[in-house]
This record gives sequence, C-alpha cells and structure tokens, in this order.
Amino acid sequence: MSSSIRFLMCAPDHYDVDYVINPWMEGNIHKSSRDRAVEQWQKLFHVLKEQAVVDLVQPQPGVPDMVFTANAGLVLGETVVLSRFFHKERQGEEPFFKQWFESKGYTVHELPKDLPFEGAGDALLDREGRWLWAGYGFRSELDSHPYLAKWLDIEVLSLRLMDERFYHLDTCFCPLSGGYLLYYPPAFDSYSNRLIEMRVPAEKRIAIKEADAVNFACNAVNIDSVVVMNKASDDLKARLTKLGFRVIETPLTEFLKAGGAAKCLTLRVTEPVREEVHASTPVESRAVRMEGHLLDSGLINRALDAIVENGGSFQVLNFSLGEQRQSTSSAEVKVTAPSRDVMEEIISQLIDLGAVPRPQEVCDVNMEPVHQAGVAPDDFYVTTIYPTEVRVNCEWVKVQNQRMDGAIAVTFNSGSPVARCKLLRDLEVGEHVIVGIEGIRTIRKTESREQRNKQEFSFMSAGVSSERRVELVVEQVAWELRQVRDQGGKVVVTAGPVVIHTGGGEHLSQLIRQGYVQALLGGNAIAVHDIEQNMMGTSLGVDMKRGVAVQGGHRHHLKVINTIRRYGSIAKAVEQGVLQSGVMYECVRNNVPFCLAGSIRDDGPLPDTEMDLIKAQTEYARLLQGADMILMLSSMLHSIGVGNMTAAGVKMVCVDINPAVVTKLSDRGSVESVGVVTDVGLFLSLLVQQLDKLTSPYHLVQV
Ligand code: ARG
Repeated sequence: MSSSIRFLMCAPDHYDVDYVINPWMEGNIHKSSRDRAVEQWQKLFHVLKEQAVVDLVQPQPGVPDMVFTANAGLVLGETVVLSRFFHKERQGEEPFFKQWFESKGYTVHELPKDLPFEGAGDALLDREGRWLWAGYGFRSELDSHPYLAKWLDIEVLSLRLMDERFYHLDTCFCPLSGGYLLYYPPAFDSYSNRLIEMRVPAEKRIAIKEADAVNFACNAVNIDSVVVMNKASDDLKARLTKLGFRVIETPLTEFLKAGGAAKCLTLRVTEPVREEVHASTPVESRAVRMEGHLLDSGLINRALDAIVENGGSFQVLNFSLGEQRQSTSSAEVKVTAPSRDVMEEIISQLIDLGAVPRPQEVCDVNMEPVHQAGVAPDDFYVTTIYPTEVRVNCEWVKVQNQRMDGAIAVTFNSGSPVARCKLLRDLEVGEHVIVGIEGIRTIRKTESREQRNKQEFSFMSAGVSSERRVELVVEQVAWELRQVRDQGGKVVVTAGPVVIHTGGGEHLSQLIRQGYVQALLGGNAIAVHDIEQNMMGTSLGVDMKRGVAVQGGHRHHLKVINTIRRYGSIAKAVEQGVLQSGVMYECVRNNVPFCLAGSIRDDGPLPDTEMDLIKAQTEYARLLQGADMILMLSSMLHSIGVGNMTAAGVKMVCVDINPAVVTKLSDRGSVESVGVVTDVGLFLSLLVQQLDKLTSPYHLVQV
C-alpha cells in the first residue's frame, strides 16, 4: 500500500436515482437496488484500500449523488477548486464538500456564481503532473478554465465534449501513469482530438471502442500500474496488460444507472505539485457588440449558436432590448474560446453577422506584407459579400470592390488609407494584407420589422417553392424588372443551356428585345444550343417543335459551331444574315454585351468563347459592375461563379429545377436573394406573361 496516496469516498447510505440529469439516469428513477449498491461500493472501497488510504465524507440525506466524490472539487497540492454544480439537483452537496476540505486544511477556491465547474469529474491531471486536462461542453463552463490555471498554477488544456452520454471528462478520458492515455476519441470534437494527439504520442494513446466506453472503461482509478474499473473487454484487458498495467474489474452496475462508475466514486486528494510547471492557458476571451433587431430577426440566436457550435462559450455582458416594435436592441457578448484558432473562426463568423469590437477597443487592423506575388500571408482575413470596414489609424475605412473569398489589401494614397478586396492571384509584392480578425466589421442593414416579415413571406425559407409561391415570386420579379428598366438600371442574366432545352429561349429573347437585360453571362453551351435551335430548329438534335430526335441531329450542334467559326464570330454571323433569331441574335442586335466562359467539356468552342478562365472571370466581374439585379437561370457553374463575385445588396433571383442549386445560391444569409425551384422554361414564360400584363392596361382590366 502506498500510504502517501489518499482518496476520498462517500458511502452510498442515501444513494438512489432520484432525478434525471444525464442520459444514463433516464428510465432508471428508483430502479437501483440499495443493497446491491452498498455491496458494489464496499467492494470498490476494499480494492482501493489495498492500494491507498481512503478517507470518508459523511453522506447526507437529500443529495443522493454525493457518492460521486469526484465531483467534490479539484485538488492539486494543498489547493482545492470547489465544484459549482451545473444542475440545481446537486448544488446541495457543495457546502458539505467545502466543509470537509476546510477541515483538512486545504485552501479552498470558489468560482464566481453562475460559472459551473464539476471538479475532478471534468478536470484530470496528467499522471506525470505536467498539465491539467479540462473538459467543457456539458457541465463545466470553458470560462472556468482560466481560473483553474491561475489558482492551481498549471497549464490547462481544454477539451470539448460532444456526446451527451460522456458528459463528464472522466467518463471518456483517463490519463494513466507513464504518460499513457485511455480514452474514447468520438466523445470529443476534432479540435480536441488534435490537441490530444499533439500532447500524447501515438504509442501512448489507448483508444477504446464504444462497447468498452459504454461500460465506463475510461472511468477508471489508476494507482501506479493498477487500473480499477467496472468492466473491460478481453481485448482491452490484453492491451493494458501488455503495456504493464494490472486491470482490476469490480462491478458497479448500480452506479452506472446514475451515470457513474469507479472514478466518479472517488476523488484523489493527494496530487503532488510539480514545482517547475506554471499557469498557462490558451483560453481567450474578447467582447463584441451587436445591434439590430436582435431578437426578432434571430440574429442573437445565430450569433450565440455560432459561438457554441464552434467550440466556444459566451457570457452576455448586457442586453438592452428595444422597447418599441421598430426600435433596435443592442448586446455586448463576451466570447471565450479554447484557443486563438477557434477564437478567430468564431469572431470571423460573428463579423459576418455584424458584430463589432467594443468602441475604441481597436485602433488598427493587423497587416502583413505580401512577399510573393499572388500569395497572401497565412492567416489572411477572408472577405465576405457584406460591405466591410476596417480600422486603420483609429478610423473605419470602407473596403472597395467588395466580394467574397478575397483578401483585403491596404495601401496609402498620399497618407490616407485605401482598403481594397483583391483576389489572391492579384496580390502584389509590398502590398499589406489584413490578417487575423482585429478591427474588422461588416455592415448589415437593419431592415425594419415590416420589411423583414414581407421578405420572409415571399422569399427564401429554402426548400421547394410551391406553385403558388412561384407565381408570387414571378409577380415580384416582374415588378422589379420593370422598375429597374424604367429607372435605367442594370439587370445581368446568367443562363445555362437548359433555358434552351426547356423552351425558354424565345422568352429570354423577348426580355432582351424589350430592354430588360443589360448583360448576358454563360458558357459555350447556351450559345451553341440557342444558335442550333434558331438555325436548325433542334436543340441537341431534338426537334423543338415536335419533341422528337431528328435523323443525324446529334451532329447539328457541331455544324452550327463550324458555321459560326467560318464567319469569325456570332456578331459577324448576325451581320451576314446567317443567324436571324434567338438569344444571341438579340444580344448582338440590341448591343447587350455578353461573355461566354469556356470549360473543359466545350465542343468547338465558338470563336466568342473565352477559354482563358482568368480573363473570363475578369470580364464577368466587369459586366457585373453596377448590377441592380441578377437573374440566374439554370446554370450552377456560372451562377455560383457570379455569386462569388457579387457583393451583398444586389438582388439575385436563382431559378433551377434542382433545389440544391437554389439553396446554395439563395442562402447567402441576405434578404436580397430569392430562390425558385421550378422549370426554367416555365418560369420565363410566366415572367414574360406577367410583364405583358404590367405593360398592357387592357389586360389589367381583364384580370
Ligand atoms: N448522477 C451524477 C451526475 O450526473 C453522476 C456523476 C458521475 N460523476 C462523474 N465524475 N462522472 O452528476
């Protein structure tokens, strides 16, 4: 017996499953047998007494889970951090444990109220004393970890628990002597698994299977080479034995009904301090401010979800709720993250939601110079579609050429800062690029409640639009097309060949003819099929009038390509009277600029097709400049390309028969996007009809 090692236990005099605070307790209320529990507890007690000294704390009525002394607190040397239970059902245990620690002369630290931490259930010392592993996600709050580091003067490594069956760190994680680690990897998020793998070399990691995990094999008491647990598979026993451990199984099934086993029933109260280790924690906090219809628009929920889903934690420092229907709310939220990387991920998502640093907190963004043309410094800030401002010399500077997936380059024009969105490939040596997340904000319009409700009603809400919804959207799009045209605005259309196959060609032609389209973007195919249809009456060899394949029709599109190549360009073919109708014809006739971007699968291509994709992207971006509205007609490739180049504020209408495409494009988190899942030919025909109605007074009377 190593008499220097001591454990604290609490006899199960009052043990029972009285309530449900973890998934193991569900269905087990009053289902455990007190006699069997006593017998199992006694056995564990004797096993441990052979290895160490066991102290006892007086059991108390009314707090049945007090048997789980692992949750009394966390001990290191002469210092204890007392638990603050998450569930009120267990908070009654706190004074009894506190009393016990004080009577033994420990220095007891207590966390601020409302900051839960469940002791050695959620914090496990590396058995070599090098650092402390601390869990969070269910019972203990990430914000408690910096306190542990400070009070215990030790490095704290935060691990996020993901599976509610393994709600305490000690249910799925057990550091063993010799630097070994027994654990169940799926209980943790990927960031935590990476951290574990960085600290524990592969040959020291003993990952267990789910079957062992649910028998609480990780909930083991380790004393030198002895490992005491409820139950282990033969395989696990063999693995541990081979590494020099002696496994002692002692059944604790009655305690499993409450979600605990060997380790939970004990608290090691002698943990030697290693003089050379000192406090450190990668846990970071920062405060952000949000404003707007935080509750009505669900903005605050989205922000708090983003924090938690990414492995962070939050505290709402203050919330001022707008009192009138139209007044906005504001909130200050303290965000905590287990590391700098996680913090950056969280904050960049919050920036997208319109969060800003607290006023005056940041005076300058962080910048790093470009050393290699076309390559940004690591950790560059990736831009979004939202208008963005960056803090330079204590002032907010608006970023120009806003688009997503770029970097922000800052230059000085006779002393005054200029910030610009640039594609990586356009970065030049010597330019300064913004890195990190400091001093960046995006401006989100606060729509009024009324506006928002209207938009919610007619737009988005994802998924398949019902037929009535299609009609409603068509009405609205028609109305807006009219407005844009009458105000001399700009509508850009991206279109795929499906527009032609579904018979939409004539309607699109009409839109162009009537001045509703100011630029057309697409690929080789839309032009080829449009020209095929107008020169030969077929689309990919299918007779468009009769809907049947034409003899030899599969070569039609190649013949068409050949003809256009002979004339040198689509425009020249129009001039020569070879091409006399259709979408491309109308573009040429009405001076509507178009850009056809090439791809690997293009036949021909047409002489007009731009096969240099960098040039095509540049031309797309040029034609998109100043657009008020973009109609995306059944072309995933070109529509997504266009979506990436377009800043928020431009209305996008995406029509596709495939809901996935529509969702991808309309779900830009902006109210300006409309998704319509329908046949594009049908959509265009309805649109043209509706525009006719708007134009002809007689029709208006008739409806
Ligand atoms: N019923 C107890 C609870 O849910 C079980 C505690 C188990 N203790 C532990 N260290 N895992 O809090």
